[in-house]
Amino acid sequence: MDVAEYLVDGAVILPLVVGFLLWGYIQVHRRQQLNALKANLPPCHSGWIPFLGCAISFGKEPLMYIKKINDELGPVFTLYITGNRMTYLTEEEDYSKYFLQSEYVDFQKAVHLFVANAADISSESFMTYHTSIHDMVKGKLATQFLPEHSVNLTKLFGNRIRQIQPEGKVELNEFLRMVLYPCVISDLFGKETLDKQNDEKSIRQLMEKFVEYDDQFEYGTQIPQIFLRKWASAKHWLLNMFKDGILQVKSDDKTVLRSLKDTVDEKHSANYGLLMLWASLANAIPVAFWTVALVLHTPEVHEKVKSVIADTLNLSVEPEFTEQVLHKLKYIRCCFLEAIRIRSPGVIIRMVIKPFQVKGYTVPAGDLLMLSPYWAHRNETFFPEPERFYPERWIKCDFSKNEFLPGFVAFGGGRYMCPGRWYALMELHILISLLFYKFDMKLEGKLPNHNIMHLVGVQQPDDQCYINMQPRS
Ligand code: HEM
Repeated sequence: MDVAEYLVDGAVILPLVVGFLLWGYIQVHRRQQLNALKANLPPCHSGWIPFLGCAISFGKEPLMYIKKINDELGPVFTLYITGNRMTYLTEEEDYSKYFLQSEYVDFQKAVHLFVANAADISSESFMTYHTSIHDMVKGKLATQFLPEHSVNLTKLFGNRIRQIQPEGKVELNEFLRMVLYPCVISDLFGKETLDKQNDEKSIRQLMEKFVEYDDQFEYGTQIPQIFLRKWASAKHWLLNMFKDGILQVKSDDKTVLRSLKDTVDEKHSANYGLLMLWASLANAIPVAFWTVALVLHTPEVHEKVKSVIADTLNLSVEPEFTEQVLHKLKYIRCCFLEAIRIRSPGVIIRMVIKPFQVKGYTVPAGDLLMLSPYWAHRNETFFPEPERFYPERWIKCDFSKNEFLPGFVAFGGGRYMCPGRWYALMELHILISLLFYKFDMKLEGKLPNHNIMHLVGVQQPDDQCYINMQPRS
């Protein structure tokens, strides 16, 4: 059945009409409430189409549109889009004070409807279990548990690279996916749990389904799935994989999947598994991609990476990535932090629950509060020459104290900051070091641009990227 058939089906039309009327009523009511406040609201860009607001212009170039309106309206502004007021804070002093403080904002209220669409999790379940899940993930992936994961991942990455045996012209994104999917899934969810990963055909199928799911994720969180049939089918495929996987979880295993199963309601355990899978791969893969691509594209950085690897790792012995070795490979960490900075998520989001005053404006409760790490990382006060890929800017950070540069917000902030960040940094440190240790690599052709159409997560490349890989002997 295609979309047109769905639309003439009365079972679909009636709820749509009722939903639309209800939504219209809520909008009028909210507008009246805001007028009654008589507050000095931030300047608002609402376009000329009632209710749709500036959705059409925004949708054409979302990332660039944020900057354009920021330049027009100043550091605090609101975009009115399909009935939602989205208020952006663009100055560090403002987002540190309000976005990152749970007194004024709420994470769950901002995202529960997106989660419902993304993974078929009811708002009731999400509101009940979200904090426990966050704390569980944070605990399981805390820095004191990383050495264990580091040993396991080093082994898994090494074996997987030997299995794939890349040589000659390789599409970088696909290669990284083929390495990262099975290794991260095995490390976080268990070797046998998602057993479909074990042969090459199943890994490729999983990759294709995940790419479809990830590619349209942003739309899938907002648009009814009858309009995104391929995306919905990939989602159901992945959900079924988790439903089977959850049944295989053994009572004595120590994986994140096992802890997730123990934390949430049985009905939704596979659904939370899918969300966790997305969170653990959707950003890490493009970051690995941009790190390798940008290093290869910047000769002076590439030379330095090769010399740091040569000085630290002995070609005749398989490397072990202990804390001391990673400390010596500090420059590699600078490289991928710089890749994260320059390709950071387009937006992160909260809901205002307590009105606050900023720059003389009142931001009312009910607004979605928006922060753009992508644009925050182009603030010249914190990041001079912001468009330059310049890993040296990170050298002054003391990584043994888990420092980031001031103004860096790629992992969000406050109570619900990314709970997988230390795991992500460890996994990237090992993978990137291993690749430059095992291969001589160079770019074949041009470096792709980043896709500026997506706001959720790290930007993807807008085209394929070929590199030449030669095993080092
Ligand atoms: C470089 C890679 C990564 C980046 C840039 C990144 C970034 C983010 C950001 C911006 C958020 C939202 C935080 C907020 O709104 O304040 C987030 C949430 C999250 N991240 Fe990451 N992340 C990365 C890797 C990972 C990895 C490897 C994992 C797991 C192993 C992970 C697990 C999560 C989870 C579970 C959440 C949701 C937290 C919640 O709902 O409370 N992330 N991440």
